[in-house]
Amino acid sequence: MRTLTVALGDRAYPIHIGQDLLGQPELILPHLKTRRVAIVSNDVVAPLYLERLQSGLEAHGVAVTPVVLPDGEANKNWQTLNQVFDSLLGTRCERSTTLIALGGGVVGDMGGFAAASYQRGMPFIQVPTTLLAQVDSSVGGKTAINHPLGKNMIGAFYQPRLVLADTSTLNTLPPRELAAGVAEVIKYGLIRDPEFLLWLEANIERLMARDPEALAFAIERSCRNKAEVVAIDETEQGERALLNLGHTFGHAIETGMGYGQWLHGEAVAAGTMMAAELSRRLGWLGPSDVARIEALFQRVGLPVTGPVLGVERYLELMAHDKKVEAGRLRLVLLRKPGQAVLWGDASAADITAAIEARCA
Ligand code: NAD
Ligand code: GLY
Repeated sequence: MRTLTVALGDRAYPIHIGQDLLGQPELILPHLKTRRVAIVSNDVVAPLYLERLQSGLEAHGVAVTPVVLPDGEANKNWQTLNQVFDSLLGTRCERSTTLIALGGGVVGDMGGFAAASYQRGMPFIQVPTTLLAQVDSSVGGKTAINHPLGKNMIGAFYQPRLVLADTSTLNTLPPRELAAGVAEVIKYGLIRDPEFLLWLEANIERLMARDPEALAFAIERSCRNKAEVVAIDETEQGERALLNLGHTFGHAIETGMGYGQWLHGEAVAAGTMMAAELSRRLGWLGPSDVARIEALFQRVGLPVTGPVLGVERYLELMAHDKKVEAGRLRLVLLRKPGQAVLWGDASAADITAAIEARCA
Protein backbone atom coordinates (compact mmCIF):
# COMPACT_ATOMS: atom_id res chain seq x y z
CA MET A 1 0.00 0.00 0.00
CA ARG A 2 1.18 3.53 -0.79
CA THR A 3 -0.05 6.48 1.25
CA LEU A 4 -0.10 10.15 0.29
CA THR A 5 -1.37 13.08 2.34
CA VAL A 6 -3.53 15.98 1.28
CA ALA A 7 -1.90 18.71 3.37
CA LEU A 8 -4.78 20.86 4.59
CA GLY A 9 -3.64 21.65 8.14
CA ASP A 10 -5.99 20.23 10.75
CA ARG A 11 -8.16 18.85 7.92
CA ALA A 12 -5.27 16.92 6.33
CA TYR A 13 -6.17 13.40 5.25
CA PRO A 14 -4.53 10.28 3.84
CA ILE A 15 -5.02 8.69 0.44
CA HIS A 16 -4.31 4.96 0.69
CA ILE A 17 -3.69 3.26 -2.68
CA GLY A 18 -3.32 -0.50 -2.97
CA GLN A 19 -4.84 -3.88 -3.70
CA ASP A 20 -7.60 -5.49 -1.62
CA LEU A 21 -8.04 -2.50 0.68
CA LEU A 22 -11.82 -3.05 0.87
CA GLY A 23 -11.06 -6.09 3.00
CA GLN A 24 -9.04 -4.05 5.50
CA PRO A 25 -11.59 -2.24 7.70
CA GLU A 26 -8.82 -1.34 10.13
CA LEU A 27 -7.80 1.33 7.62
CA ILE A 28 -11.22 2.95 8.03
CA LEU A 29 -11.90 2.53 11.76
CA PRO A 30 -9.55 5.29 13.01
CA HIS A 31 -11.39 7.81 10.83
CA LEU A 32 -14.90 7.10 12.15
CA LYS A 33 -16.36 9.45 14.73
CA THR A 34 -18.70 6.77 16.10
CA ARG A 35 -19.34 3.11 15.26
CA ARG A 36 -22.08 4.07 12.81
CA VAL A 37 -21.78 4.55 9.05
CA ALA A 38 -24.00 4.95 5.99
CA ILE A 39 -22.48 3.45 2.84
CA VAL A 40 -23.78 5.25 -0.25
CA SER A 41 -23.32 3.24 -3.45
CA ASN A 42 -25.25 2.42 -6.62
CA ASP A 43 -26.99 -0.57 -8.16
CA VAL A 44 -23.94 -1.50 -10.27
CA VAL A 45 -21.22 -1.19 -7.63
CA ALA A 46 -23.19 -2.42 -4.59
CA PRO A 47 -23.65 -6.01 -5.90
CA LEU A 48 -19.89 -6.15 -6.57
CA TYR A 49 -18.37 -4.57 -3.47
CA LEU A 50 -20.87 -3.52 -0.78
CA GLU A 51 -20.94 -6.84 1.07
CA ARG A 52 -17.13 -6.90 1.35
CA LEU A 53 -16.95 -3.44 2.85
CA GLN A 54 -20.06 -3.80 5.01
CA SER A 55 -19.22 -7.19 6.55
CA GLY A 56 -15.68 -6.10 7.38
CA LEU A 57 -16.96 -3.06 9.26
CA GLU A 58 -19.75 -5.01 10.98
CA ALA A 59 -17.19 -7.54 12.20
CA HIS A 60 -15.67 -4.64 14.14
CA GLY A 61 -18.99 -3.64 15.69
CA VAL A 62 -19.83 -0.88 13.24
CA ALA A 63 -23.56 -0.46 12.44
CA VAL A 64 -24.00 0.00 8.67
CA THR A 65 -26.88 1.60 6.77
CA PRO A 66 -26.54 0.82 3.04
CA VAL A 67 -27.98 3.39 0.63
CA VAL A 68 -28.16 2.09 -2.95
CA LEU A 69 -28.86 4.70 -5.63
CA PRO A 70 -29.71 4.25 -9.31
CA ASP A 71 -26.53 4.21 -11.41
CA GLY A 72 -25.44 6.86 -13.85
CA GLU A 73 -24.62 10.47 -14.60
CA ALA A 74 -28.28 11.06 -15.58
CA ASN A 75 -29.17 10.39 -11.92
CA LYS A 76 -26.68 12.89 -10.46
CA ASN A 77 -29.51 15.22 -9.49
CA TRP A 78 -31.77 16.51 -6.70
CA GLN A 79 -34.15 13.54 -6.84
CA THR A 80 -31.38 11.00 -6.27
CA LEU A 81 -29.69 13.19 -3.67
CA ASN A 82 -32.99 13.32 -1.83
CA GLN A 83 -33.03 9.52 -1.72
CA VAL A 84 -29.85 9.73 0.35
CA PHE A 85 -31.49 12.15 2.78
CA ASP A 86 -34.62 9.92 2.93
CA SER A 87 -32.45 6.96 3.95
CA LEU A 88 -30.30 8.91 6.41
CA LEU A 89 -33.35 10.40 8.11
CA GLY A 90 -35.42 7.23 7.86
CA THR A 91 -32.74 5.21 9.66
CA ARG A 92 -32.00 8.03 12.12
CA CYS A 93 -28.43 8.60 11.07
CA GLU A 94 -26.84 11.22 13.28
CA ARG A 95 -24.56 14.14 12.61
CA SER A 96 -21.72 11.96 13.92
CA THR A 97 -22.55 9.07 11.53
CA THR A 98 -19.87 8.76 8.84
CA LEU A 99 -21.01 8.72 5.21
CA ILE A 100 -18.86 6.41 3.07
CA ALA A 101 -19.18 6.86 -0.71
CA LEU A 102 -18.47 3.55 -2.47
CA GLY A 103 -18.39 3.97 -6.25
CA GLY A 104 -17.22 6.18 -9.09
CA GLY A 105 -17.23 9.95 -9.36
CA VAL A 106 -21.01 10.19 -9.53
CA VAL A 107 -21.51 8.42 -6.19
CA GLY A 108 -18.53 10.28 -4.70
CA ASP A 109 -19.74 13.73 -5.79
CA MET A 110 -23.33 13.08 -4.66
CA GLY A 111 -22.34 11.32 -1.45
CA GLY A 112 -19.98 14.17 -0.64
CA PHE A 113 -22.65 16.79 -1.20
CA ALA A 114 -25.06 14.80 0.99
CA ALA A 115 -22.40 14.61 3.72
CA ALA A 116 -21.70 18.34 3.43
CA SER A 117 -25.33 19.25 3.95
CA TYR A 118 -26.92 16.50 6.12
CA GLN A 119 -27.48 18.09 9.52
CA ARG A 120 -25.02 20.80 8.30
CA GLY A 121 -22.17 18.35 7.85
CA MET A 122 -21.31 14.78 8.76
CA PRO A 123 -17.93 12.98 8.49
CA PHE A 124 -17.20 11.70 5.01
CA ILE A 125 -14.96 8.99 3.51
CA GLN A 126 -14.31 8.29 -0.17
CA VAL A 127 -13.90 4.70 -1.41
CA PRO A 128 -13.47 5.27 -5.17
CA THR A 129 -13.94 2.28 -7.50
CA THR A 130 -13.31 3.77 -10.97
CA LEU A 131 -9.95 4.89 -12.31
CA LEU A 132 -11.36 8.38 -12.79
CA ALA A 133 -12.46 8.55 -9.16
CA GLN A 134 -9.18 7.09 -7.88
CA VAL A 135 -7.04 9.63 -9.75
CA ASP A 136 -9.25 12.68 -9.50
CA SER A 137 -12.78 13.03 -8.14
CA SER A 138 -12.27 11.38 -4.73
CA VAL A 139 -9.44 13.78 -3.84
CA GLY A 140 -9.87 17.46 -3.12
CA GLY A 141 -13.35 17.88 -1.74
CA LYS A 142 -15.34 19.05 -4.75
CA THR A 143 -18.88 17.70 -4.38
CA ALA A 144 -21.87 18.44 -6.59
CA ILE A 145 -24.94 17.45 -8.52
CA ASN A 146 -25.85 18.48 -12.06
CA HIS A 147 -28.54 20.97 -13.12
CA PRO A 148 -30.28 20.68 -16.51
CA LEU A 149 -28.52 23.94 -17.46
CA GLY A 150 -25.04 22.90 -16.38
CA LYS A 151 -22.72 20.22 -14.99
CA ASN A 152 -21.85 20.24 -11.28
CA MET A 153 -23.60 23.57 -10.80
CA ILE A 154 -24.95 22.86 -7.31
CA GLY A 155 -22.45 21.72 -4.72
CA ALA A 156 -19.94 22.46 -1.99
CA PHE A 157 -16.27 22.12 -1.14
CA TYR A 158 -16.23 19.42 1.53
CA GLN A 159 -13.13 17.35 2.23
CA PRO A 160 -13.22 13.65 3.10
CA ARG A 161 -11.38 12.30 6.15
CA LEU A 162 -9.87 9.47 4.14
CA VAL A 163 -9.60 8.27 0.55
CA LEU A 164 -9.30 4.49 0.23
CA ALA A 165 -8.44 3.55 -3.37
CA ASP A 166 -8.60 -0.25 -3.76
CA THR A 167 -7.00 -0.83 -7.14
CA SER A 168 -8.36 -4.42 -7.32
CA THR A 169 -11.82 -2.95 -7.95
CA LEU A 170 -10.56 -1.73 -11.34
CA ASN A 171 -10.55 -5.34 -12.60
CA THR A 172 -14.35 -5.20 -13.07
CA LEU A 173 -14.40 -1.75 -14.69
CA PRO A 174 -15.65 -1.78 -18.32
CA PRO A 175 -12.91 -0.82 -20.85
CA ARG A 176 -14.76 2.33 -21.91
CA GLU A 177 -14.78 3.54 -18.29
CA LEU A 178 -11.09 2.70 -17.90
CA ALA A 179 -10.29 4.83 -20.96
CA ALA A 180 -12.38 7.70 -19.58
CA GLY A 181 -10.28 7.59 -16.40
CA VAL A 182 -7.06 7.66 -18.42
CA ALA A 183 -8.20 11.00 -19.90
CA GLU A 184 -7.88 12.58 -16.44
CA VAL A 185 -4.51 10.86 -15.92
CA ILE A 186 -3.21 12.38 -19.17
CA LYS A 187 -4.53 15.73 -17.93
CA TYR A 188 -1.96 15.83 -15.10
CA GLY A 189 0.88 15.26 -17.54
CA LEU A 190 -0.39 18.00 -19.82
CA ILE A 191 -1.03 20.66 -17.18
CA ARG A 192 1.98 20.36 -14.85
CA ASP A 193 4.00 17.16 -15.10
CA PRO A 194 5.94 16.84 -18.40
CA GLU A 195 8.00 13.91 -17.05
CA PHE A 196 4.77 12.00 -16.33
CA LEU A 197 3.57 12.85 -19.84
CA LEU A 198 6.69 11.14 -21.22
CA TRP A 199 6.06 8.14 -18.97
CA LEU A 200 2.47 7.94 -20.23
CA GLU A 201 3.65 8.03 -23.84
CA ALA A 202 5.91 5.07 -23.09
CA ASN A 203 3.43 3.10 -20.96
CA ILE A 204 -0.13 3.92 -22.00
CA GLU A 205 -0.81 0.40 -23.35
CA ARG A 206 0.26 -1.05 -19.98
CA LEU A 207 -2.40 1.10 -18.31
CA MET A 208 -5.06 -0.06 -20.75
CA ALA A 209 -3.98 -3.68 -20.12
CA ARG A 210 -4.50 -3.01 -16.38
CA ASP A 211 -0.90 -3.86 -15.53
CA PRO A 212 -1.09 -3.52 -11.71
CA GLU A 213 2.31 -1.86 -11.37
CA ALA A 214 1.61 0.67 -14.12
CA LEU A 215 -1.83 1.44 -12.67
CA ALA A 216 -0.46 1.87 -9.15
CA PHE A 217 2.26 4.22 -10.44
CA ALA A 218 -0.18 6.29 -12.51
CA ILE A 219 -2.74 6.54 -9.68
CA GLU A 220 -0.10 7.59 -7.17
CA ARG A 221 1.48 10.13 -9.52
CA SER A 222 -1.95 11.57 -10.42
CA CYS A 223 -3.02 11.80 -6.77
CA ARG A 224 0.32 13.41 -5.87
CA ASN A 225 -0.28 16.09 -8.49
CA LYS A 226 -3.85 16.62 -7.37
CA ALA A 227 -2.95 16.71 -3.67
CA GLU A 228 -0.26 19.33 -4.32
CA VAL A 229 -2.65 21.57 -6.21
CA VAL A 230 -5.45 21.20 -3.66
CA ALA A 231 -3.07 21.98 -0.78
CA ILE A 232 -2.06 25.22 -2.56
CA ASP A 233 -5.56 26.30 -3.62
CA GLU A 234 -8.36 24.33 -1.97
CA THR A 235 -11.26 26.49 -3.17
CA GLU A 236 -10.00 27.27 -6.68
CA GLN A 237 -8.98 30.89 -6.38
CA GLY A 238 -6.23 30.33 -8.97
CA GLU A 239 -3.98 27.30 -9.51
CA ARG A 240 -6.72 24.69 -8.99
CA ALA A 241 -8.55 25.96 -12.07
CA LEU A 242 -5.75 24.35 -14.13
CA LEU A 243 -7.18 20.93 -13.18
CA ASN A 244 -10.04 21.88 -15.49
CA LEU A 245 -8.10 21.54 -18.75
CA GLY A 246 -10.65 20.59 -21.43
CA HIS A 247 -13.51 20.80 -18.92
CA THR A 248 -15.22 24.02 -20.11
CA PHE A 249 -15.62 22.53 -23.59
CA GLY A 250 -16.18 19.06 -22.10
CA HIS A 251 -18.95 20.09 -19.71
CA ALA A 252 -20.70 21.74 -22.67
CA ILE A 253 -20.52 18.41 -24.52
CA GLU A 254 -21.89 16.47 -21.53
CA THR A 255 -24.76 18.88 -20.93
CA GLY A 256 -25.46 19.45 -24.63
CA MET A 257 -25.62 15.74 -25.42
CA GLY A 258 -27.66 14.87 -22.33
CA TYR A 259 -25.98 13.60 -19.15
CA GLY A 260 -24.56 10.10 -19.55
CA GLN A 261 -24.35 10.07 -23.35
CA TRP A 262 -20.70 11.08 -23.38
CA LEU A 263 -18.64 9.89 -20.41
CA HIS A 264 -16.96 12.68 -18.47
CA GLY A 265 -13.48 11.53 -19.48
CA GLU A 266 -14.49 11.27 -23.14
CA ALA A 267 -15.83 14.83 -23.08
CA VAL A 268 -12.63 15.99 -21.35
CA ALA A 269 -10.49 14.35 -24.08
CA ALA A 270 -12.41 16.06 -26.92
CA GLY A 271 -12.48 19.30 -24.89
CA THR A 272 -8.72 19.11 -24.36
CA MET A 273 -8.24 18.88 -28.12
CA MET A 274 -10.33 22.08 -28.48
CA ALA A 275 -8.13 23.74 -25.85
CA ALA A 276 -5.01 22.48 -27.67
CA GLU A 277 -6.30 23.85 -30.98
CA LEU A 278 -6.98 27.23 -29.36
CA SER A 279 -3.49 27.19 -27.82
CA ARG A 280 -2.08 26.58 -31.30
CA ARG A 281 -4.02 29.55 -32.64
CA LEU A 282 -2.49 31.69 -29.88
CA GLY A 283 0.96 30.58 -31.04
CA TRP A 284 1.80 28.60 -27.90
CA LEU A 285 1.59 25.07 -29.29
CA GLY A 286 2.96 23.97 -32.64
CA PRO A 287 1.11 21.56 -34.95
CA SER A 288 3.41 18.76 -33.74
CA ASP A 289 2.37 19.41 -30.10
CA VAL A 290 -1.30 19.15 -31.06
CA ALA A 291 -0.59 15.95 -33.01
CA ARG A 292 1.32 14.55 -30.02
CA ILE A 293 -1.64 15.08 -27.66
CA GLU A 294 -4.09 13.72 -30.20
CA ALA A 295 -1.99 10.58 -30.71
CA LEU A 296 -1.96 9.83 -26.98
CA PHE A 297 -5.76 10.08 -26.68
CA GLN A 298 -6.18 7.98 -29.81
CA ARG A 299 -3.99 5.19 -28.42
CA VAL A 300 -6.52 4.92 -25.56
CA GLY A 301 -9.50 5.01 -27.92
CA LEU A 302 -10.71 8.37 -26.62
CA PRO A 303 -12.51 10.84 -28.91
CA VAL A 304 -10.41 13.69 -30.27
CA THR A 305 -13.32 15.64 -31.75
CA GLY A 306 -16.55 16.75 -30.12
CA PRO A 307 -20.11 16.26 -31.34
CA VAL A 308 -21.67 18.79 -33.72
CA LEU A 309 -23.85 20.80 -31.33
CA GLY A 310 -23.40 24.02 -33.30
CA VAL A 311 -20.92 26.66 -32.14
CA GLU A 312 -23.69 28.88 -30.74
CA ARG A 313 -24.86 26.03 -28.51
CA TYR A 314 -21.30 25.34 -27.31
CA LEU A 315 -20.86 29.03 -26.44
CA GLU A 316 -24.23 29.20 -24.69
CA LEU A 317 -23.39 26.17 -22.54
CA MET A 318 -19.84 27.37 -21.87
CA ALA A 319 -21.21 30.68 -20.58
CA HIS A 320 -22.39 28.76 -17.48
CA ASP A 321 -18.85 27.67 -16.65
CA LYS A 322 -17.82 28.25 -13.04
CA LYS A 323 -14.65 30.03 -14.20
CA VAL A 324 -16.67 32.78 -15.89
CA GLU A 325 -15.83 36.01 -14.04
CA ALA A 326 -17.65 39.30 -14.57
CA GLY A 327 -19.19 37.72 -17.66
CA ARG A 328 -15.77 36.87 -19.14
CA LEU A 329 -15.00 33.31 -20.17
CA ARG A 330 -11.68 32.05 -18.80
CA LEU A 331 -10.23 28.91 -20.33
CA VAL A 332 -7.44 26.57 -19.31
CA LEU A 333 -5.00 26.49 -22.22
CA LEU A 334 -1.52 25.07 -22.82
CA ARG A 335 1.62 27.22 -23.04
CA LYS A 336 3.35 23.96 -23.92
CA PRO A 337 2.73 20.27 -23.18
CA GLY A 338 3.27 20.06 -19.41
CA GLN A 339 2.37 23.69 -18.63
CA ALA A 340 -1.18 25.02 -18.43
CA VAL A 341 -2.39 28.58 -17.98
CA LEU A 342 -5.77 30.14 -17.16
CA TRP A 343 -6.50 32.61 -19.96
CA GLY A 344 -9.32 35.13 -20.28
CA ASP A 345 -8.13 36.98 -23.38
CA ALA A 346 -8.86 34.54 -26.21
CA SER A 347 -10.92 36.22 -28.90
CA ALA A 348 -14.43 35.01 -29.72
CA ALA A 349 -13.20 34.35 -33.27
CA ASP A 350 -10.39 32.07 -32.08
CA ILE A 351 -12.66 30.20 -29.64
CA THR A 352 -15.23 29.69 -32.39
CA ALA A 353 -12.56 28.51 -34.84
CA ALA A 354 -11.13 26.06 -32.29
CA ILE A 355 -14.55 24.52 -31.65
CA GLU A 356 -15.30 24.29 -35.37
CA ALA A 357 -11.92 22.70 -36.08
CA ARG A 358 -12.56 20.01 -33.50
CA CYS A 359 -16.20 19.07 -34.19
CA ALA A 360 -17.01 16.03 -36.26
P1 NAD B 1 -19.38 6.95 -12.68
O1 NAD B 1 -19.37 7.24 -11.26
O2 NAD B 1 -20.64 7.10 -13.43
O3 NAD B 1 -18.81 5.46 -12.89
C1 NAD B 1 -18.73 4.94 -14.18
C2 NAD B 1 -19.55 3.63 -14.32
O4 NAD B 1 -18.78 2.56 -13.78
C3 NAD B 1 -20.86 3.63 -13.58
O5 NAD B 1 -21.80 2.88 -14.29
C4 NAD B 1 -20.50 2.93 -12.27
O6 NAD B 1 -21.58 2.38 -11.61
C5 NAD B 1 -19.55 1.89 -12.78
N1 NAD B 1 -18.57 1.38 -11.82
C6 NAD B 1 -17.96 2.06 -10.83
N2 NAD B 1 -17.02 1.30 -10.27
C7 NAD B 1 -17.04 0.12 -10.91
C8 NAD B 1 -16.27 -1.07 -10.80
N3 NAD B 1 -15.25 -1.16 -9.95
N4 NAD B 1 -16.56 -2.12 -11.60
C9 NAD B 1 -17.58 -2.01 -12.53
N5 NAD B 1 -18.30 -0.91 -12.71
C10 NAD B 1 -18.03 0.15 -11.90
O7 NAD B 1 -18.29 7.84 -13.47
P2 NAD B 1 -16.79 8.28 -13.12
O8 NAD B 1 -16.09 8.33 -14.40
O9 NAD B 1 -16.23 7.48 -12.01
O10 NAD B 1 -17.01 9.75 -12.56
C11 NAD B 1 -17.51 10.77 -13.37
C12 NAD B 1 -18.10 11.84 -12.50
O11 NAD B 1 -17.10 12.39 -11.67
C13 NAD B 1 -18.72 12.98 -13.26
O12 NAD B 1 -19.98 13.29 -12.72
C14 NAD B 1 -17.76 14.12 -13.05
O13 NAD B 1 -18.39 15.38 -13.10
C15 NAD B 1 -17.22 13.81 -11.69
N6 NAD B 1 -15.88 14.36 -11.41
C16 NAD B 1 -15.72 15.02 -10.24
C17 NAD B 1 -14.48 15.52 -9.91
C18 NAD B 1 -14.26 16.17 -8.57
O14 NAD B 1 -13.20 16.75 -8.36
N7 NAD B 1 -15.20 16.08 -7.65
C19 NAD B 1 -13.40 15.35 -10.79
C20 NAD B 1 -13.61 14.68 -11.98
C21 NAD B 1 -14.86 14.18 -12.28
N1 GLY C 1 -11.37 17.96 -11.17
C1 GLY C 1 -11.13 19.34 -10.91
C2 GLY C 1 -10.82 19.67 -9.51
O1 GLY C 1 -10.87 18.85 -8.62
O2 GLY C 1 -10.55 20.78 -9.22
